[in-house]
Amino acid sequence: MRVVATVQEMLDTRSNVAGSSKVGLVPTMGYLHEGHLSLVRLGRAENDVLIASIFVNPTQFGPHEDLERYPRDLPRDLHMLEAAGVDVVFTPSADEIYPPGFVTYAEPTGPLASEGESAHRPGHFRGVATVVLKLFQIVQPHRAYFGQKDAQQVVVISRMISDFNLPVALGILPTIREADGLAISSRNAYLSAEDRKVATVLYQALQAGRRAFDAKAGDGTAAVVRAMVETVTQESRAQLDYAEVRDPQSFVLLEALQAPALLVIAAKVGPTRLIDNFLLRADGSWETGVLASELKWVEEERDR
Ligand code: PAJ
Repeated sequence: MRVVATVQEMLDTRSNVAGSSKVGLVPTMGYLHEGHLSLVRLGRAENDVLIASIFVNPTQFGPHEDLERYPRDLPRDLHMLEAAGVDVVFTPSADEIYPPGFVTYAEPTGPLASEGESAHRPGHFRGVATVVLKLFQIVQPHRAYFGQKDAQQVVVISRMISDFNLPVALGILPTIREADGLAISSRNAYLSAEDRKVATVLYQALQAGRRAFDAKAGDGTAAVVRAMVETVTQESRAQLDYAEVRDPQSFVLLEALQAPALLVIAAKVGPTRLIDNFLLRADGSWETGVLASELKWVEEERDR
């Protein structure tokens, strides 16, 4: 496995494999876990050359967010990526990606830029879109892999690919969960033992929302939102940021109970902010994610 830290070296490495039929990219901020590895495994299976990036992107963190203390463990990450068969890891510094004089950003507009996560993290998706666009330019992948865990990020990136005519195919993988339903996240490392128990409240709220959706109460998505809000407010250590039902493609709020629908939720558990979502499909099935212990099943499903 090659570890490449400069943009120039990454461009050179990319042109050396230009003859390869398929190049895959898995962008990450490191501190890897089973969620990241599910993307890596599918990327490995689908491509001739698999490139992963590890970059804690400063432009997607707000001034009072956790950039400085975001968990990092590069030696462990490299070990995990090597074991998963990654060919190249791109680990640039902030100066490599944002050199002096950098002034140009990519950013979504409309609900994506002002609602959902954006209402609580202004400018977050400007940072995400910009770094992902740069990674696409530098790595030039045929395919790039992202997790449904970050549902709004998936919408931002698929819109950017379409809006900017980027020649990249997206692979979106289900959310990988702990045995009790908590979505796996690098930020779960912040949870105290007590908060870790409470953290399943997001998953429970989504389950309650899904049941309300299926029950088809007369007041449309309001009943779904109510079910989610009630579940979170029962937990005194949890503080809800939002619980909403949105169109998974346009990200506009839905009022009628129409599928596909995205149930999105964000809450603070103690001091730690967590997000989660369920995707309810038109055929009545839903994407709640999978438990880490069921991962093999996901890969077999995707291989078919
Ligand atoms: P990061 O949080 O490290 O996540 C990297 C990728 O792993 C994202 O596509 C994310 O959705 C996916 N992921 C995280 N937890 C997951 C889980 N439990 N199940 C499935 N996939 C999961 O997302 C980012 O980094 C950054 O915003 C990035 C795209 C790298 C741009 O900086």
